[in-house]
Amino acid sequence: MNMVMGVIGYPIKHSLSPEMHRSAYKNLHIDYAYHAFEVSPANLKNAIDGVRGLGLKGLNVTIPHKVEVMAHLDEIDDLAVEIGAVNTIVNVDGKLKGYNTDGEGYLKSLKEYVNKDIRNLNTLIIGAGGAARAVALTLTKDGVNNLVITNRTLSKAEDLAERCAKFSEATVQTIKDIETNLQDFDIIINTTSIGMSPNIDEMPIKLDNLKEGTFVSDLIYTPFKTKLLIEAENKGGKVLNGLDMFVYQGALAFEKWTGLQAPTDIMRSTVLNHLKGVK
Ligand code: ATR
Repeated sequence: MNMVMGVIGYPIKHSLSPEMHRSAYKNLHIDYAYHAFEVSPANLKNAIDGVRGLGLKGLNVTIPHKVEVMAHLDEIDDLAVEIGAVNTIVNVDGKLKGYNTDGEGYLKSLKEYVNKDIRNLNTLIIGAGGAARAVALTLTKDGVNNLVITNRTLSKAEDLAERCAKFSEATVQTIKDIETNLQDFDIIINTTSIGMSPNIDEMPIKLDNLKEGTFVSDLIYTPFKTKLLIEAENKGGKVLNGLDMFVYQGALAFEKWTGLQAPTDIMRSTVLNHLKGVK
């Protein structure tokens, strides 16, 4: 049976999801289709009704629809409810269920890179927006128990720490305190857009007190290495960009739709080639 999947966003033309998913179908010799749909906020409900009406197997959901789309679904996975956002929709016999694979995709990439039990490592999350919610809740749900959250607006970090407390304790520090205590951390994760192209000279925190061997991770992958990662590497840090998070969030969606194991190596190299092409 042929299946049709896609991604909705506004704008959508820069999305790398179509290329990535199509490369997976091609690699597995399956005749599935994946299309990018530009859907304005005013058309969101019509678009979701269209998934049911046309029998699409599922959708990825990107900015600005990840929160608002939840109101139009039949069921929402528990973790996505906690995060308060959906990035993947699966159509099962006309019923649409929403998931959030961003946090799980990130966790998989981090675990693979760190390659040891991360639960007792001192972990810092910079930011308290949508991406931070996905990462912080997934990490604490998975048992990370020394999480500290920092953010420009501290009250948002406090709200997020409170949400995480359902799974595991998380505390809050100001950016100034973090910069002073930076040597306390084993893993540092930037979830903000600070340093993303075109603002490549910006950094979310100063790294003067970074301890050698600290894992420094940025959800951004354009540029491939943010200033945060370049400086961290210069100070002996081990750095991870957001490419694998993107690949794995897509792979998790792929597996939910198809029941097949996603060819992640092919998906990664497709995205990489595309990024090289547009740089
Ligand atoms: P996303 O869904 O990408 O996480 P978001 O929900 O708008 O986007 O959250 C953006 C995050 O980046 C927030 O933590 C925001 O800090 P505030 O809560 O103080 O707004 C942070 N952020 C974005 N631009 C920033 C900047 N120039 N300086 C400091 N923090 C910034």
